[in-house]
Amino acid sequence: MNMSHWKISAYQPISIIFSVLLLQACADGIDVKYRDTETNRWYSSTQVAQGKQIFSENCASCHGGAAQGGNNWRVANKAGVYPPPPLNGTGHTWHHPFKMLKDSISNGTDRGMPAWKDTLTEPQIEATLAWMASHWPDKIYEAWQGRH
Ligand code: HEC
Repeated sequence: MNMSHWKISAYQPISIIFSVLLLQACADGIDVKYRDTETNRWYSSTQVAQGKQIFSENCASCHGGAAQGGNNWRVANKAGVYPPPPLNGTGHTWHHPFKMLKDSISNGTDRGMPAWKDTLTEPQIEATLAWMASHWPDKIYEAWQGRH
């Protein structure tokens, strides 16, 4: 009986578990810990440029041309509805993991954010997130990354 053969088999379940964990970490198609050689962040400058265009056409009317949010976005109106929040790093956006932000954009929310999954493709939605994140100072970006 070859003992070294048995040693390899014993480790196999562990390597399978690690593979599954790795797959889960990348389940959204992007790895937030990835560092592009140019931007040093998860996205490429091409995605940022694409996102800028998509944002100005679809999102700027509510969130502002520079993603600065509506006026007094922290204050609800008489109906209890809040203005669109900023997405440029000055609001709460960076508190939320990638998956959650992408979900808000794809499916919308019941507090005034429309759903985009029938209008924009997944790569287009990701590009808007790239453009948003490109406004975040390094400190905010690192803090956001640490929440994953
Ligand atoms: C009709 C106005 C409107 C348009 C157009 C709009 N949004 Fe929003 N968006 C909102 C409102 C209002 C909220 C806050 C919703 C809530 O609190 O549930 C929001 C929330 C969000 C959030 C979550 C922010 C957070 O801090 O969690 C993201 C991300 C977002 N919008 C991105 C986009 C993108 C990208 C587009 C364009 C594809 C877009 N929005 C278009 C009104 C809009």
